[in-house]
Amino acid sequence: VSRMSGSAGIQQGSPAIGAAGSAPAAPGAGGTEGSGATVGSARIAVKKAQLRSSPRPKKLEKLGVYSSCKAEGACKCNSWKSQNPPPTPPRTDQQPNTFNLQDPCRSCSHTLGDHVTHLENVSEEEMNRLLGIALDVEYLNTCVHKEEDADTKQVYFSLFKLLRKCILQMGRPVVEAQESPPFEKPSIEQGVNNFVQYKFSHLPSKERQTIVELAKMFLNQINYWQLETPSQRRQRAPADDAAGYKVNYTRWLCYCNVPQFCDSLPRYETTQIFGRTLLRSVFTVMRKQLLEQARQEKDKLPPEKRTLILTHFPKFLSMLEEEVYSHSSPIWSEEFLAGSSGGPIPIHTGKTHLTFSGQKRKPSEPLPHEETKKLRIVGDIPMELINEVMATITDPASMLGPETSLLSAHSARDEAARLEERRGVIEFHVIGNSLNQKPNKRILMWLVGLQNVFSHQLPRMPKEYITRLVFDPKHKTLSLIKDGRVIGGICFRMFPSQSFTEIVFCAVTSNEQVKGYGTHLMNHLKEYHIKHDILNFLTYADEYAIGYFKKQGFSKDIKVPKAKYLGYIKDYEGATLMGCELNPSIPYTEFSVIIKKQKEIIKKLIERKQAQIRKVYPGLSCFKEGVRQIPIESIPGIRETGWKPVGKGKELKDPDQLYSTLKTILQHVKSHQNAWPFMEPVKKTEAPGYYQVIRFPMDLKTMSERLKSRYYTTRKLFMADMQRIFTNCREYNPPESEYYKCANLLEKFFYTKIKEAGLIEK
Ligand code: ACO
Repeated sequence: VSRMSGSAGIQQGSPAIGAAGSAPAAPGAGGTEGSGATVGSARIAVKKAQLRSSPRPKKLEKLGVYSSCKAEGACKCNSWKSQNPPPTPPRTDQQPNTFNLQDPCRSCSHTLGDHVTHLENVSEEEMNRLLGIALDVEYLNTCVHKEEDADTKQVYFSLFKLLRKCILQMGRPVVEAQESPPFEKPSIEQGVNNFVQYKFSHLPSKERQTIVELAKMFLNQINYWQLETPSQRRQRAPADDAAGYKVNYTRWLCYCNVPQFCDSLPRYETTQIFGRTLLRSVFTVMRKQLLEQARQEKDKLPPEKRTLILTHFPKFLSMLEEEVYSHSSPIWSEEFLAGSSGGPIPIHTGKTHLTFSGQKRKPSEPLPHEETKKLRIVGDIPMELINEVMATITDPASMLGPETSLLSAHSARDEAARLEERRGVIEFHVIGNSLNQKPNKRILMWLVGLQNVFSHQLPRMPKEYITRLVFDPKHKTLSLIKDGRVIGGICFRMFPSQSFTEIVFCAVTSNEQVKGYGTHLMNHLKEYHIKHDILNFLTYADEYAIGYFKKQGFSKDIKVPKAKYLGYIKDYEGATLMGCELNPSIPYTEFSVIIKKQKEIIKKLIERKQAQIRKVYPGLSCFKEGVRQIPIESIPGIRETGWKPVGKGKELKDPDQLYSTLKTILQHVKSHQNAWPFMEPVKKTEAPGYYQVIRFPMDLKTMSERLKSRYYTTRKLFMADMQRIFTNCREYNPPESEYYKCANLLEKFFYTKIKEAGLIEK
């Protein structure tokens, strides 16, 4: 309402919102639309400035009414204004300042001067701070009276009391709440940043910049968005979590909204302290209103912004909407940065609210709070350096490249297909037959086309069988269309309750094979499944297709427990069961581009590092002066080359450090999903003859006890015991057994962990 364009029609309609939005500007503003906190905050700012430049006695008079009486005889008067707001508050903006330090306090009989003795030696700066609070208190007082919404009124009142107490105690306002910001991670800002990386990091830098602009614009809008009151929300969306919304609404008022006009309260940006939950509760309404606003401001838009706002922004919002409401979107994962592949695109929102047409909405006063510092992983490459390097990678052929560029011999298998899709030469559609809906002619034609492609490419499959499955409503087919005709597809059946999908047929027509279509099809299928929360594929690959499936990330080592698929999946004679586990953080259709870009970045970083270390240092002169030996690390420049003191893995000399490192590793190993066979000593009853075969048994429980008793004084002892677990297992169990596989996987994991800890060389 008030923070949006007044005339642009961004309104949340009902009068109560108007009240919530404009009450802060109440004195004189009368709740008019388009004024709100902007006018309010400007007015208080002027008043504060006036008061700050007034003579000290005047300042004392003002503070006197908010301070407790210091008169002798232990006057109990806490302050004249210590009562709750009177039923009809004075109009602060019109009220003549008639106090005088000699005047009697209206609560006790002492003078106002008796109330300010404690301020005698207080610095001008502190006085000004307290006066700022006093004006905010007066302003909030008006708000409490003007506000019609009960929830909002209550929050204004709490803040009013808080600030009043601050003057009394000369303290700093701290909103007392069970939780302090940030309230959800990742924040909206981080999530939108992740979204830009997830969906657009493959774009050439100019286009990416456009997206970053859109993201900034969107975040800026949220920071000045007027939330609807809990009661309005209850009316609009009765099924939603009303209690949860109210909590967030209260937090938003205290930390984001009210501090916009009462600057003695610390202010936070909505996008930095709230996360997906709040965004979900405002997104739909906000999207609609923003688009409406854009339409209304159409004629006022500067020409260079027209396309951005009228064409790109609606698309950007639709794509974002999908990620905001999806249950499996990776952009809301805290690990997104670690797992993501694109270069980071930092988006910082401005501190000024801008309309689409570029006008400022808010006086750009400096904000009282510090920007929250981003956490940095130790050893990580500085963001500035990455951005700098990204900017230097301008060779279009080495990046995505213009569509006319000849594909180099090193381009990824799916590159041509991806470019064709971008140019609209090929299309991908998930289609299927339905018994509920009237068959669509085009879809039926495509299904027949698919049946043909499969029958030709899979001659060993009975044609009737292919037809039956392709037209079965429980099966779907991701189809590849070129010039309106089907040239390939993957037929699959989803088993959401079993958390996997069976790939039934997969083929590309003969003259279109080995052009990357098969890979791009599979990547689309992976993304489709991530969207639908299924992260495992199973397929019976025929002998000739094993190579293809391996290249798509399938393996014979099936991750889905047998019990999950037994009885669900069709068994094919002479075919090999293969599985593929999907990683929801990977944008598969863009994966090869991202990897390519990362390689490019790493190459540049290495070049830079090399340029740095190709520095010539002067020779060492200490030996001439009789020194016989110096530690290697004292040779100038040696550390810069990446040289580390201990050659083969680091031997931790500090026993406590060694103990805690080993403890962490052991904990990781014990909580690994494949650790279960090794948790305790093998029981004789369960493994006949075990102790005759295995002469030096070992298990994770025994290792924990040994660690506790400080038996592991060197990393070698620890590693030897762990290794013993794996070799024993492989010695006793056959290679195809579950135990054997667990030993292999856990061993791999263990070595990754000790490498990470620097105990052995990487
Ligand atoms: N054996 C080994 N590698 C193969 C095979 C194969 N049969 N087919 C393709 N590849 C390789 C390609 O050389 C390429 O490797 P590269 O990236 O290292 O160059 C990679 O797999 C992918 O190539 P694409 O061009 O992306 O795949 P294509 O468009 O050719 O489609 C497909 C692959 C679907 C297997 C196609 O060749 C085909 O239709 N084959 C006949 C039908 C078939 O065998 N389908 C699978 C049966 S099993 C089942 O349906 C469950």
